[in-house]
Amino acid sequence: MNIERIQALQGSDYLAINELNSQAFLALIDTAMELKQLLKAKEKHAFLEGQSLAMIFEKPSLRTRSTFDLAMFQLGGHAVYLAQQEIRLGARESIRDVASNLERWFDGIMARTFEHNTVVELAKHSTVPVINGLTDLVHPCQLLADYLALKETFGDLEGIKLVFVGDGNNVANSHINAAALTGVHLTIACPKDYVPDADILKSAQLLNPNISVAHDPRAAIQGADAIYTDVWTSMGQEEETEKRLKDFAGYTITTDWLDDLSDRGVFMHDLPAHYGEECTEDVLYDKRSIAFDQAENRLHAHKAILYQLLG
Ligand code: CP
Ligand code: NVA
Repeated sequence: MNIERIQALQGSDYLAINELNSQAFLALIDTAMELKQLLKAKEKHAFLEGQSLAMIFEKPSLRTRSTFDLAMFQLGGHAVYLAQQEIRLGARESIRDVASNLERWFDGIMARTFEHNTVVELAKHSTVPVINGLTDLVHPCQLLADYLALKETFGDLEGIKLVFVGDGNNVANSHINAAALTGVHLTIACPKDYVPDADILKSAQLLNPNISVAHDPRAAIQGADAIYTDVWTSMGQEEETEKRLKDFAGYTITTDWLDDLSDRGVFMHDLPAHYGEECTEDVLYDKRSIAFDQAENRLHAHKAILYQLLG
């Protein structure tokens, strides 16, 4: 089976979804779907034979690390994990120096960093594609997997009513970017002091007027097709935990919330979950939850990104 290459993505970076056009993002979802079918059919798909990926992690990870490693393996390539305590990006060596080394050995770099500017700098100083595995600003790999799950669940993305309940964080920002390119109707329901990035929101609303911010989560989810949540305290914000527990009072999703969704309504979570905060364990394991489909799809989404960028 031959999967079409998207010319516009070959050799490019994947730093944020708003750097892509609609066609490229939708094509990545299709590529992920095709690669998933090949894997399920046990068909060999070593399209990146002999290629290699450097994986830099300034923050912990279960899903991103496992699935990028497996993705390279299943595509016939190899991944090397680089822990921050060893390479100390920007401290032991400058970002530029690290990029100038890595590009001599690897065909691509995946990085999970605190500052978004770190992945921008890596991309600026490297000749090989750089993939954003989560920054404080956005989480574009997550949303590709999520949109594959939405497409599998609903068939068509256009007009799906999705409500993100919680912090206007990196995942919320990527939701806004993804909705802008796809015609998904998105509401970010968050406390007033936890709104998403203003520039991202403004640009997205120019492309898709059905993107809004609300502050009454229970009202926002009435009749929605998907309710999505994420942790209240993201990695790096741990000292704010106590304050956030108070500020997000009333935002804990329990199973009765799911009854307010449309007949086809589903629950989504990017994981890890903090039970008793953004949701209960019952919700995550409810039959309407597709959280583990999303997790599975990280593998297929990452293979699609690698296939289209590294080629
Ligand atoms: N959702 C997600 O990115 O999970 P990890 O932090 O485990 O990679
Ligand atoms: N918003 C969360 C996502 C974890 C995958 C964080 O940044 O910690």
